Amino acid sequence: MVELPVLVQPTAQTAEAPSNGLTVFVESYGCQMNTNDSEIVMGVMHANGYRTAGSPDDADVILLNTCAIRDNAEKKIHERLMHLKHFKKTNRDLVVGVLGCMAERLRADLLETTLVDLVVGPDEYRRVPELVGEALGGSRSVAVKLSRTETYDDVVPLRTGGASAWTSIMRGCDKFCTFCVVPFTRGRERSRPLQSIVDETKGLWDSGFKEITLLGQNVNSYRDIESGYDFSDLLAATARAVPSMRIRYSTSHPQDMSDKLINTMAEHSNICKHVHLPVQSGSNRILELMNRTYTVEHYIGRIERIKELMPDCATTTDIITGFCTETEEDHQRTIDLMKHIRYEGAYMFTYSPRENTKAWKLGDDVPDEVKSRRLAEIIEIQSEIARQINTKEVGVVHEVLVDGPSKRDASHWKGRTDTNKIVVFSGENVASCAVGDVVRVKVERTNKATLVGIPY
Ligand code: SAH
Ligand code: SF4
Ligand code: F3S
Repeated sequence: MVELPVLVQPTAQTAEAPSNGLTVFVESYGCQMNTNDSEIVMGVMHANGYRTAGSPDDADVILLNTCAIRDNAEKKIHERLMHLKHFKKTNRDLVVGVLGCMAERLRADLLETTLVDLVVGPDEYRRVPELVGEALGGSRSVAVKLSRTETYDDVVPLRTGGASAWTSIMRGCDKFCTFCVVPFTRGRERSRPLQSIVDETKGLWDSGFKEITLLGQNVNSYRDIESGYDFSDLLAATARAVPSMRIRYSTSHPQDMSDKLINTMAEHSNICKHVHLPVQSGSNRILELMNRTYTVEHYIGRIERIKELMPDCATTTDIITGFCTETEEDHQRTIDLMKHIRYEGAYMFTYSPRENTKAWKLGDDVPDEVKSRRLAEIIEIQSEIARQINTKEVGVVHEVLVDGPSKRDASHWKGRTDTNKIVVFSGENVASCAVGDVVRVKVERTNKATLVGIPY
């Protein structure tokens, strides 16, 4: 049994407590918000004397920060938990915790096997040190209360470096799309104060970060309750406060993609010209069943406005195929929309029914083989569109923010364009380049999803 220090929350002043000799390894699954949440959890743990383990093999505590968005996301976690069994055999004192959306959804069910010691939902991360302490003493716990106010605004996330940082500006979602678990796993919408996000951005720049992504399930719902400032105001304020910082955001909802937001993006050169605007389906009938609250016509109007003000702005999307009652005609409408808009990229999924959502009650009547066939079709169409778009990039010079060596070939650097395309480059002056540099690169050829070039 370990003597734990008094529990403290990490503020800028108390970000690190003396080590208590115990190490934590956290694995993140799911979306970028989960990645940022893991940094928040590690911030809280470090402030309580824990240190980061190099690998799960030598950790005293293993935390899985999980996703519940689709059944296969949860299957992956169950498999990982099975695998962790042998860690527990070799280290009987090992503490295993399940955090995140799956923890919130499955709650005490996760304690059914003796493997899991603690289950903590997204709004209870301040309690992780306390609960880990209890687990070290042999008791098991579930903490899954959702909050209407928790934003972890005062917690300093433990970031691992690199050129890019993420920060959650709001939490939760009130949209209740009928297929989606997020409103149940993350609770009601709430936002951080504008000034604290601006201050954090300045601090990140001072500590060497060159890019920040403002995160939320639906960032357009951001609202500073004191001042009434909205997401466009926040974007403009951050862009002005740190004019050389690249600013990105994700995700916006098509219903709330306002002219004001599009104007703000166009006005500031450091707001990256990339909009991720999930459409989900090209059929109005399906969009209505999904409670997406917009029509295909509205959606196209938003994309047209974006392209009108920012012709080079990249657009990406999410698509669900095989939603309940989806016909071949509905599917064809999705294909037509993809061909019309010509996205730079798309995340495409087969529909996965989630218990307790409205769509769960509608049934799951599209057979798996039909879903898979439709998915394969849209993936094929999207790949061809992306290939054609990328071909036009040959000869174009981009400013690339370097984020590390290329995975395939360590003699090449890898980075991203303003439009969020991955660029790999080599050349004579490559030796003098470092993570965080902005390098002008001329594209010479393209691989599937990557642009390949030389410094220009
Ligand atoms: N808040 C974001 C999306 C968050 S979830 C938005 O509304 O745009 C990321 C993506 O997962 C969704 O856009 C959707 O395409 C997909 N998704 C969510 N629930 C799903 C389900 N039950 N089955 C399949 N895909 C799903
Ligand atoms: Fe889910 Fe819809 Fe909220 Fe996105 S906007 S998180 S899809 S409920
Ligand atoms: Fe998954 Fe939760 Fe994110 S369900 S996608 S980790 S908000």
